[in-house]
Amino acid sequence: MSYKVLLLGSGGREHALALKIAQSPELSEFYALPGNPGISKVARCIKGSVNDFELVKSIVKEKTIDMVVVGPEDPLVNGLRDYLLQDKSLENLLFIGPGKDGAALEGSKDFAKEFMTKYNIPTAPYRTFTSDQADSAKEFLKSLRPPYVLKADGLAAGKGVLIINDISEAEKGIDEIFSGKFGSAGDKLVIEQFLSGVELSCFVLTDGKDYLMLPEAKDYKRAHDNDEGLNTGGMGSVSPVPFADSEFLGKVEERIVKPTIAGLRAENIDYRGFIFIGLMNCNGDPYVIEYNVRMGDPETESVMTRIDSDFLEHLAAAASGTISTQKIKISSHSAVTVIVVSGGYPEHYAKGYEIKGLDSLEDITLYHAGTSEKEGKVVTSGGRVLAVTANGDSLKECRDVIYSQIDKISFTDSYHRGDIALDMIGWNR
Ligand code: AMP
Ligand code: GLY
Repeated sequence: MSYKVLLLGSGGREHALALKIAQSPELSEFYALPGNPGISKVARCIKGSVNDFELVKSIVKEKTIDMVVVGPEDPLVNGLRDYLLQDKSLENLLFIGPGKDGAALEGSKDFAKEFMTKYNIPTAPYRTFTSDQADSAKEFLKSLRPPYVLKADGLAAGKGVLIINDISEAEKGIDEIFSGKFGSAGDKLVIEQFLSGVELSCFVLTDGKDYLMLPEAKDYKRAHDNDEGLNTGGMGSVSPVPFADSEFLGKVEERIVKPTIAGLRAENIDYRGFIFIGLMNCNGDPYVIEYNVRMGDPETESVMTRIDSDFLEHLAAAASGTISTQKIKISSHSAVTVIVVSGGYPEHYAKGYEIKGLDSLEDITLYHAGTSEKEGKVVTSGGRVLAVTANGDSLKECRDVIYSQIDKISFTDSYHRGDIALDMIGWNR
């Protein structure tokens, strides 16, 4: 088979997907909307927004696209799949990403929690409240032990979760969410029990009936070393994750992945795409913290480098309902990713600085995350600017390769964590 592919998105995750897809002998033409200067080396980038559904449709028709691969969640939550596939002339379009129904796993925390409860998928006990129930929500807090976990129901750009130690602060948090701190995402509020443990990201590619497990990963969310500072989109990642041995991953598959896919089928949700399961390992048992309907960023940057089979073929099989025919080949090599960010991220930061040293790193895969091209130069255009990934026999080797060279990349006020993967080295398996 040969495929004309359109990839939606512009970050490091999409650059990682793009490089993997570009390795396939089955790729015939490759387009990205909007892409970035890194992606433009392997795909033709088209200007515009992933949320401009008419534009997406016109590209699909004009370029006679066979497959659309969606990077970020918002077009999915907004129903891009449904919009395109209801057009009779696009009946045979292969599309990676769920419709609006399946995307509610990420788009509504309340839906996800109800789904997990219904299908006996381990997750923290919870209750959902609407804005007229602030008093009951505060009453419910009293039945929980601190810290208190408050989650706005809807999409809030990854910022809709508050974890608060003090009960009166948590009560204030309830009022703030209900008075619009996260906009309409906070029309409903999920309060759940805090889970202590170590977090892990698991990734599934499914056709709604069967699935492939992609390599697991762990991301580093805090801005500074030793997990200090503000929460970010992610400052680095590792794969594999030393504490996720085959026994633990077996539990994830049996207790979470299989019942999730069976649950989607039982709900008549025709889910074709990625499921990213954010997990907590609580004393060796996995609990779902959240579902996402996309790949993780910066996990994808590490994960893609460990897939040795034809990923485009897996995607085509997921989209066409034949994933049971596929076998994924996962490299035993390790991968580490360190994100280079704009100084000040995740708060205020400047953009437009020229990036130097982009071609100076060896044995590295360099992904563009927040860059753009200006007068022939590559400049910063976001908080997370570049993802620097290394592969090696061990996480330590990857770390050494990255940190011995990362300072060759330079732009004004650039910053990166210095301790990515350090806590995983020597982890007692
Ligand atoms: P979410 O958007 O649901 O992934 O939540 C964002 C982050 O909050 C997660 O990655 C966890 O670090 C943390 N978190 C969410 N829910 C819980 C919980 N029940 N217990 C402990 N930490 C949590
Ligand atoms: N790295 C976490 C996420 O992509 O949501």
